This record gives sequence, structure tokens and C-alpha cells, in this order.
Amino acid sequence: MIYLDYNATTPLRTEVLEAMLPYFQMHFGNPSSVHWAGRQAKHGVEEARERIAEFLHCRPAEVLFTSGGTESNNLALTGVHNAIRSKGSHIITTAIEHSSILEPLEALATEGASVTILPVTGDGRVRAEDLVAALRPETVLVSISPANHEIGTIQPIAALSRIARERGICFHIDAVQATGKMPLDVTSLGVDLLSLSAHKISGPKGVGALYVRRGTALTPLLRGGPQEREKRAGTENVAAIVGFGVAATLAAQELEATAAHCCQLTQQLCEGIVQRVPGAFLNSPTHQRLPNTLNVGFSDATGEGLMMGLDLAGIAVSTGSACAAGSLEPSHVLLALGRNAEEAKSALRFSVGRETTTQEIDRVLEVLPQVVERVRRAARKNEE
Ligand SMILES: Cc1ncc(COP(=O)(O)O)c(C=O)c1O
Repeated sequence: MIYLDYNATTPLRTEVLEAMLPYFQMHFGNPSSVHWAGRQAKHGVEEARERIAEFLHCRPAEVLFTSGGTESNNLALTGVHNAIRSKGSHIITTAIEHSSILEPLEALATEGASVTILPVTGDGRVRAEDLVAALRPETVLVSISPANHEIGTIQPIAALSRIARERGICFHIDAVQATGKMPLDVTSLGVDLLSLSAHKISGPKGVGALYVRRGTALTPLLRGGPQEREKRAGTENVAAIVGFGVAATLAAQELEATAAHCCQLTQQLCEGIVQRVPGAFLNSPTHQRLPNTLNVGFSDATGEGLMMGLDLAGIAVSTGSACAAGSLEPSHVLLALGRNAEEAKSALRFSVGRETTTQEIDRVLEVLPQVVERVRRAARKNEE
């Protein structure tokens, strides 16, 4: 079995599992309890907060634990909007964001917010001049992902955030796909809010964090308790938070080695596909791209058919983001690049990780040309 869908999720690391295990039984306390059992659990949560703070180069008090990237994005957008709507309610984002950004913004728009969606270039880059042109006196928030989940395009976040923050506008980044693949330093990125998710960095599912710069106004989404500095009520998922902290420390220690490993594998894959599969075209940019992500279209074939053909051979890839899996709609990210619906529907996303090997890529390059040919033949037969 070959797994090339690391952008959907990653395998849990043994070190992470081992760090989590005591918190299921031995250290079972509720971190809000003041007695010994509570203190043990609280210690685990606070140590993890310190690890995340070290990972982002921020203060531990600026890290809020959440149930994952989706909640962090919802909390950042809705929380800032609700806290400062009296100052203005114009929010700017881009056409290639994850659905956990676009859908909360659609909901805010129905409640009176005004939302501008910036276009991107053919390789998925946001232009600074488009951001400048979209700014209004009532703009209160800008949200742009530093690295796209489908094609891997990296944005010039420091330059974009400067434009917003010079005007006192909050800047949020959805760093879920960037985590562990590029350095994340909140000061050099110049951001006020940043979303993370543990399961993209070999941590457990259902836990994430939101960095909130000190002094940033944020209204909670979940109410009913004083946890997370009254910004996120509910008993903490202690074991998962502990695992997240360890996963972040390991990701930071191995960042360069993992990036170099992944870069070599995606290069091998890209060159092999271009050589062996006629009619293949690249949707990912050739530079300033996540080292582990490669999105390729295959003319006269459907990504869905190719994905299923590869699955039959034990190879897991995806047609786009995991949340859109099973959808027959073309990817909004690829449409925003200027691809037509047919081109967008022919795409496969390959995403590799620290456990992927050169031999696995060799195997994929052996199987893929046959699968593409089979899917194309079936499509021609259907047309006859
Ligand atoms: C860019 C991006 N943002 C947010 C999310 C959602 O994260 P989670 O699965 O932790 O809710 C994902 C997950 O695929 C993602 O790729």
C-alpha cells in the first residue's frame, strides 16, 4: 500500500502516541480541577502550549487550543468580525482558500459583512496590488493562506501582511498546510492570527490551535466555561493537546530534512510523469511551492477515474482537498487559476511525507501510465 495523500492527513508518530497514552488513564484529571489530578492534566496542557509557542515564536498566552483547523479558522474570522464589527465589517480573502475559510465568510456575509474575494495569478499567487486595491476604510480583517492545500503555492505573506497592518487591519493566515513544511514565525510573517491543525504534522486528529496576538479583539464561538482564557469554553482534549505539542516540536526539529526529502520525491514524480504520461500538465507552480505537494492534470481523463484506478493498485492519492472528496464539482482552486471545468476535473493531487520512499515513487510511475491509458480508453468508449 502506498500513501500519497499527506495533505489530507498524516500517520501518527510513535513518539506522539507514547506521549499521549498516559493522559488517557494515568493522568485522567480535568485540567480545570484544582486538586492533584487536575494539576497533572493542566501540566500536560501547559507544556504543550509552550511547545506550540516555541514552534510559532510567540508567547504561550497567545496560543488557544481548538478542535482543529476548521474551528481555528471559524473562530478567527467570526470572532474578530463579531468583536470589531462596530469599526467596520469588510473582510478580504482569496479565491483559493479552504472551505473552512470561504464558508464561514459566506455565513458572515448573510449577517451583513461585506466580503471581497481576491483573484490569483495562473500559478495561484495573490498580487499585492490587488490587495491594496481591495482595501476600504471599513476593512477590518484580511485572511490569506500562506500555502495552498491543493496546489501548494506559497504566498508572500510578510509583504501582504505589511499592507494590512500598516493600516491597522487584522491579518489572519490559515497555516494548516504550511505547518511543518516551511518556517512559521509570527513576527517575521507579521500576522495577528494563525490557524494550525495537529493531524497534518503526524499528530492526532481533532485538535488544533489558534495563535491570537496579544491585544487582538476576539469574541468566543463556544461559551460555557473559562477555559482557554475565556475564548474557547469546554474541557480540553488533554491527550490530543499533549500529542500536538510533541508533534510540533518534532516537526520543527526535522523541518529542513523533511522538506529536502519531500522536495526530491516530488521532483522525481514530476519529471517521471512528464516523461511517461503524454497530455499531463502541471497545476502546481514550479517555484515557491510546498515541497511535498504536486498537482497534475491529465487531458482526456477524469481525476476521479484515475484516483479509483490507482486505489485498485493500492496507491492513495486525491483529486483535491479531502473535504471536497466525492464532490463532482470541479475544484474552485483550479478554476481560480484559469483552468476550465474539464481541465480542473482531470486533476490529481499527490502529497508526500516523511515516510514516503523513492521506491514508492518508482512504483507509482510504473502504474500511473497504464491507469491513465485505461481511463482514457474507457472515456473514448463512452463517447462512441
Ligand atoms: C488549508 C486547510 N485549512 C483547514 C483545514 C481543516 O483542518 P482540520 O481537518 O483540522 O479541521 C484543512 C484540512 O484539510 C486545510 O487543508
